[in-house]
Amino acid sequence: MAIERTFSILKPDATERNITGAINALIEKAGLRIVAQKRIRMTREQAETFYAVHKERPFFGELVDFMISGPVVVQVLEGEGAIAKYRDVMGATDPSKAADGTIRKAHAKSIGENSVHGSDAAETAKIEIAQFFSGNEIVG
Ligand code: CMP
Repeated sequence: MAIERTFSILKPDATERNITGAINALIEKAGLRIVAQKRIRMTREQAETFYAVHKERPFFGELVDFMISGPVVVQVLEGEGAIAKYRDVMGATDPSKAADGTIRKAHAKSIGENSVHGSDAAETAKIEIAQFFSGNEIVG
């Protein structure tokens, strides 16, 4: 399988509980390499742009408010089949449906405060990475 890059966010519920290291340990245990990482506070504009695809959903306002409610850690993860692999490691969006051993099963609080985001496809990963990182910030 090809080496890919995917985009990850450790969300405000994770930074608030000081569990970013615990989540990173699960990421690395799965064979994914963190090739870029920074802790930021998203602006409302950044969050609205990032989640624009969900603009018409009833939870959009709540989602944006949550993502700007505290610091987040944005990351680029690299590895074989990284996009699908990270989605497996994260587990289902709704933590009550997430499999044992996944990040969301272990740490997520609810469908909204679900600790992590990961890109859903190669094209999305490219766009999401470019929104937060310039090329020289990614060191593989
Ligand atoms: P994420 O992978 O970041 O992409 C979109 C996010 O919307 C998703 O994770 C959830 O955190 C959030 N989301 C999805 N469904 C709901 C919902 N019903 N209520 C609140 N937030 C939701």
